[in-house]
Amino acid sequence: MLIKLLGCRRSLRSASTLAGLICALLVLLYTLDKATSGRYIRIAFGGVKETGFSRPVEEYVSHLLKTDPRTAEFVDTSEADALFDKVRILCLILTTEANLHTRARAVNATWARRCNSHYFVLQTRDEKDDVIMTPYNDTRNNLIYKVRHAMIHAYTNLMGTFDWVLKADDDTYVILENLRFLLSNYDKDKPGYLGYHFNMYVENHGYMSGGAGYVMSVAALRQMVDSGLNNDACALTKTYLIAEVSEDFEIGKCLKIAGVPILSSMDVLGRETFHPYPFEQYLLDFLPEYLYDWSNTRPQRGYNCCSPFSISFHYMKPETMLMMDHLLYRIHIHGRNTAGNPAGKSIFRLERVENMRKPKVVIDKIA
Ligand SMILES: *[C@@H]1O[C@H](CO)[C@@H](O)[C@H](O)[C@H]1NC(C)=O
Ligand SMILES: *[C@@H]1O[C@H](CO)[C@@H](O)[C@H](O)[C@H]1NC(C)=O
Repeated sequence: MLIKLLGCRRSLRSASTLAGLICALLVLLYTLDKATSGRYIRIAFGGVKETGFSRPVEEYVSHLLKTDPRTAEFVDTSEADALFDKVRILCLILTTEANLHTRARAVNATWARRCNSHYFVLQTRDEKDDVIMTPYNDTRNNLIYKVRHAMIHAYTNLMGTFDWVLKADDDTYVILENLRFLLSNYDKDKPGYLGYHFNMYVENHGYMSGGAGYVMSVAALRQMVDSGLNNDACALTKTYLIAEVSEDFEIGKCLKIAGVPILSSMDVLGRETFHPYPFEQYLLDFLPEYLYDWSNTRPQRGYNCCSPFSISFHYMKPETMLMMDHLLYRIHIHGRNTAGNPAGKSIFRLERVENMRKPKVVIDKIA
């Protein structure tokens, strides 16, 4: 760890700015973590640890929100602003009453406000305009019911206000501008579904990781609900390997039954834009082994982990989310701009995903 950080210092001095930035993030993470808990970077493995800071998340988010950034931010956002109206994204964020004042607070203070509209999906007495109340309590087995409820709500009450639906979790961090950039190349009126592509269980289709966030066009939502999201056509799989019902798998299966194709979210160099693990696990080569089997595209290591137009990271702690947001949106590097490429044709692969790798495990009895 320390050796890697020393390597960072060298690259911070060198001309490689991307490497420098990422290193700066790592050094910051390291310093913050060391300062607050006396330990080195904790690598989250399938979970988010919300300890180590002296104040509850809610307190420092409130503190942050009292300090509005001054308006002139020295950045030309005209392209992103134009896409904001052209590619309207409805964000459905799964959370729980227990996380409403911690994780959901950090999401609400950062990326959720960049959605065209957003809703937190949970069972709560805390009535807010941006909450879709579900009748299902906050157990893992209920995730699929919560998602179905929210999707049907969107279909019934919100049609006409969005072009794409993003489903994310309260520990997903999303860069909405990059998501719009990718989606601007696809047609909202054609069924399509994308995200981090797991090549598992559902033959010739797979499904998208729920934690990395997945996206479907308004046409896909319509097709999914019409073909029976809530009834027998998409009956929950009883033969699932894990005893629990898995939300992301069930939605993927239902979309296959509804005939919704998978669209690529990769860039032309085969780098991923959706990430089911946080930043540091990619950079420090700490990905779980299963991912190399489960990922249809197979993750790349090190700096090639992540497209420069990356869209999402999962297992983000609220603290990291706030820091990442600050680094991405309120710190700029003088004299550097992204090359103008409004079409994105030379950046993303933009294809239907076919000829998938054979899944290691297929669940039978899927129509
Ligand atoms: C999210 O933030 C907005 C704006 O500050 C606020 O009106 C809304 O109630 C918040 N939502 C939740 C669930 O806390
Ligand atoms: C959640 O609801 C289910 C029935 O839908 C019930 O069996 C379970 O005990 C409930 N769990 C909690 C934590 O309330």
